[in-house]
Amino acid sequence: METVMDKIVALCKRRGFIFPGSEIYGGLANTWDYGPYGVLLKNNIKLAWWKAFVQERDDMVGLDAAILMNPKTWEASGHVASFSDPLMDCKKCKERVRGDKLIEEKFGVEAVAGKSLKEIGEIIEKNKIPCPKCKACDFTEARSFNLMFKTHQGVVEGEGSDVYLRPETAQGIFVNFKNVVDTCRVRVPFGIAQIGKAFRNEITPGNFTFRTREFEQMEIEFFIKPGTEKEWFEKWCIESMNWFVNLGISKDKLRFREHQKDELSHYSTMTKDIEFKFPFGKAQKKDKFDVENLETWGELEGIAYRGCFDLSQHAKFSGQKLEYRDPQTNEVYVPHVIEPSFGADRTVLAFLINAYNEEILENNESRIVMKFHPRIAPIKVAIFPLSNKLSEPARKIYNDLKKYFMCEYDESGSIGKRYRRHDEIGTPYCVTIDFETEADQSVTVRDRDSMQQDRVPLAQLPDWLLQNLQ
Ligand code: GAP
Repeated sequence: METVMDKIVALCKRRGFIFPGSEIYGGLANTWDYGPYGVLLKNNIKLAWWKAFVQERDDMVGLDAAILMNPKTWEASGHVASFSDPLMDCKKCKERVRGDKLIEEKFGVEAVAGKSLKEIGEIIEKNKIPCPKCKACDFTEARSFNLMFKTHQGVVEGEGSDVYLRPETAQGIFVNFKNVVDTCRVRVPFGIAQIGKAFRNEITPGNFTFRTREFEQMEIEFFIKPGTEKEWFEKWCIESMNWFVNLGISKDKLRFREHQKDELSHYSTMTKDIEFKFPFGKAQKKDKFDVENLETWGELEGIAYRGCFDLSQHAKFSGQKLEYRDPQTNEVYVPHVIEPSFGADRTVLAFLINAYNEEILENNESRIVMKFHPRIAPIKVAIFPLSNKLSEPARKIYNDLKKYFMCEYDESGSIGKRYRRHDEIGTPYCVTIDFETEADQSVTVRDRDSMQQDRVPLAQLPDWLLQNLQ
């Protein structure tokens, strides 16, 4: 029997949200391509994020830095020395595993926080934690595996040309701190926001798009005066949570999780994650047709207090002064940083899961409906002529509406089938042009969630939709 996750992955493929990467060549493990509806959904989510955190604020500017950066960046940031996972190989089946994850899955994240490579190996051996693939308990020693992808630039391979694909977008912001302060009228407290790709050679990617090696982040580095961190940290926790809730994620599917002291990243002294209840778990009950969907909390966003770690490190490694002079008091200091770091792909996945609904209708038929918040729905309005004979006036309405909204015109199949298709795409409104339309200059607008149908005069249609799509 299919789990909820199986059904969502199947819907994503069937309806053009997310396809397996390089599929015609047999795929490339854990890579995914956003299809026509997936890219619209993801773009809408990124736009909603940019609108809330850049456009509607007075204390934020944007940036789009290069993925390839001077390799010194990653020495300064600490990634060369400490951005690694404990890698172990199963001696029997050769499966590669993350030692910390094996312990975390059995005993929780606290059991592994701050443990050395040696201690991780010992815990696994002592508790006979088995290989997830072959169930043997015979692993190689845990060794440190750096997660950064290395490549080389230029035509000559060799020393001096090695570069990394950035493992986080954050460092592009820190190295541009001075540029932004010198060129834009920003005053502390202010933030720099960026959306872009990041790459990590994850040992155990998986759970659909939850953990991949190429992914997108939506990050903010918010620069503050030292001493104001508690206040700003709390503000950012609240604003982050509100962003998810305002776009329709149920409150009971979200929680904060504070990092334990020895779980904190090398740059942070205070971190909270916002986690979402993902239906990733699977437990076989009585027989193979009875599968229980287990929910597991997974990180969507990390909010970290990074102190002045990054600016100080880059100042030290680059020899440039990365300070701020308060124009009122003339006080000079290195700003501290609160970093809200969202995963774009995980956020898309959470919105897909949150939107997924199976409903039994009054006539005992069932429907699958993706109840996206209208602001993120890939298609806002679908336009259907009731019959092919009405395609001319229907196309005219479509051509008018598509100037304002992402629309789709569909004249094939029964109206019922067209509704079902758009329910699965999550289109909030379907507009039907019928044989009365010409006479009464009105159309039928059907609401995705209530399935209620309203007659709306053509002259008012764009405004009616605009109002209801907020
Ligand atoms: N600059 C801080 C930073 O990168 P992080 O907790 O490592 O912090 C931030 O990453 C967010 O990026 C995570 O909350 C998660 O949503 C997303 N993320 C991290 N690794 C990922 C991966 N392998 N696949 C998909 N998303 C990932």
